[in-house]
Amino acid sequence: MDRIRLVGGNELRGEIPISGAKNAALPLMIASLLTKDPLVLENVPRLADVNQLEKILENHGVDIAVHGRKAPTLEGQRMTLQAAEIVDTTAPYELVSTMRASFWVIGPLLARAHEARVSLPGGCAIGTRPVDLFLAGLKELGAEIEIDEGYVVARAPKGGLRGARVVFPKVTVGATHVLLMAATLAKGTTVLENAAMEPEISDVAECLVKMGAKISGIGTRTLTIEGVDELHGATHAVVADRIETGTYAMAAAMTGGDVLLKHARAEHLQAALDTLALAGVEISSEADGIRVRRNGNGIQAVHAETQPFPGFPTDLQAQFMALMTMANGTSQIRETIFENRYMHVAELARFGADIKVDGQVATVTGVPQLKGAQVMATDLRASVSLVIAGLAARGETVVNRIYHLDRGFERLEDKLSAVGAEIERVTG
Ligand code: EPZ
Repeated sequence: MDRIRLVGGNELRGEIPISGAKNAALPLMIASLLTKDPLVLENVPRLADVNQLEKILENHGVDIAVHGRKAPTLEGQRMTLQAAEIVDTTAPYELVSTMRASFWVIGPLLARAHEARVSLPGGCAIGTRPVDLFLAGLKELGAEIEIDEGYVVARAPKGGLRGARVVFPKVTVGATHVLLMAATLAKGTTVLENAAMEPEISDVAECLVKMGAKISGIGTRTLTIEGVDELHGATHAVVADRIETGTYAMAAAMTGGDVLLKHARAEHLQAALDTLALAGVEISSEADGIRVRRNGNGIQAVHAETQPFPGFPTDLQAQFMALMTMANGTSQIRETIFENRYMHVAELARFGADIKVDGQVATVTGVPQLKGAQVMATDLRASVSLVIAGLAARGETVVNRIYHLDRGFERLEDKLSAVGAEIERVTG
C-alpha cells in the first residue's frame, strides 16, 4: 500500500496551482444525466473519486471521453459526458457504498427517467450522515419513496416531478444539489428555502443555467427553479477548490515562507482566511490568486467554529487543528456539522500535540515543536492534516493509508515538493 514519507522543517516558497474543486466536479458530472446532449466539463481534477463516479455514470449509460487524463501538466482534465439514453436506473451497492456523493444520482434519474433505485450510502467515518432530508424533499416534489433491501426506490408521479416549496430544516449540501437538479425538469416552480450556498452549489447552478435551466437566487439561501421540458448540452469549467486552497494556506502558515495559491478565490474561503489573519498569517489577494506569507513571527492561538458557508468550513477543521498544535496559547475548535470528525486527534497526538476533546469542542494547547511520527490516515481531510503537521515536525513522518488523500488532492506530493517540501510517495 502506498505511503507518503516526508521530512519536516523546510519553509514553503513559490506557486501552487489550485485544481478544480472535487465537490463541484462530482455533482457537475452527475448533472450530465439530465440531458441527452454532451456536457463538456473543463478543469476536472484527476482524483480517485472522479474515476469512481465515471464508473457509476457509465453504468447508467453515460458515455465519457476524457482529454488529458494522464497529462504531465498541471492543467485539469477536459471531460465530455453524454447520457444519450439512461440505460439503467439502478445505482448498485458495490458502486455507491464507496462514495457517498454517488447517492446524488437519485435526483437527475428521477427527474429524467421518472424512477431510480439507489443503494443507501451507509455509514461513513465522519458520522452517520443520513439521507432523510433528501427523501423528504423529493417527496415534496411528488416522488413516492420506499426502502427495499437497503435501496431507496423512488418513483415520480405520472407526468414527472412537480414543483413545490421545500424548506430544509437544516442546511445540507447534498440534498440541496439533489433537489436543485431534480427541480430543473419538474413541472412548475420549485422554491428551495434554507438551501446550502456553498460555492460548489453556485457552480452547479451556473452550469445548469448554461444547460437551459431557469434558476434565480444563485448564491443565496433561497433558490427558485422554473421547471423546463428538457435541458441541453453546455461547456463549463469547474470552480477552483477552496478546500485545497485553504489546506495549502495552512501548510504555508505552518512552515513559514511565501506561497502564491494560483487560481484561488478569496471570497470562497473568507472565513478561513480571516481566521488565519488573526493567527498572524499575512494574506493578500492578487490578480489570479491568494498570497500567504509568514516570515519569522509565530502563530497565535485563535478559536474557530465550523459552520455552513459562508462560515468556517468543516472540511478545513482538521488542517486548522494541525496548525493550532504549534500556536502560542490555547485554541478552542468547535465542530458543529459532523458528530465524529475528530479522528485526526489521536494521530496528531503521535506528533506530540496537546489536544483534548470534550463533545463538540477540541481544546488545542500549542507546543513549541512537533516531532515526526508514523501516522495513519482515516479520512480525506484528516489525512492531509497529518501531512501539514509532518511538514513542520522535526524529523521524518510516514503517512500510511494514503488512498484517502488520492480521493481528494490532485498531485499533492508534486505540488508540495515544487515549493520546497521534502516529500515523496513510497509505493508498495
Ligand atoms: C458535503 O457533504 C461535502 N461532500 C463534504 O465534503 C462536506 O464536509 C459537507 O458537504 C459539509 O460542507 C461533497 O460535496 C461531495 P451535508 P454532504 O448534507 O452533502 C446532515 C469532503 O471531505 N444531514 O451538508 O454529505 C449530515 O449528517 C467531504 O470533501 C442529515 O441529517 O454534507 C450533516 O450533519 C466530507 N440528513 C449535515 O446534515 C440528510 O438527509 C450536513 O451534511 C443530509 C444531511
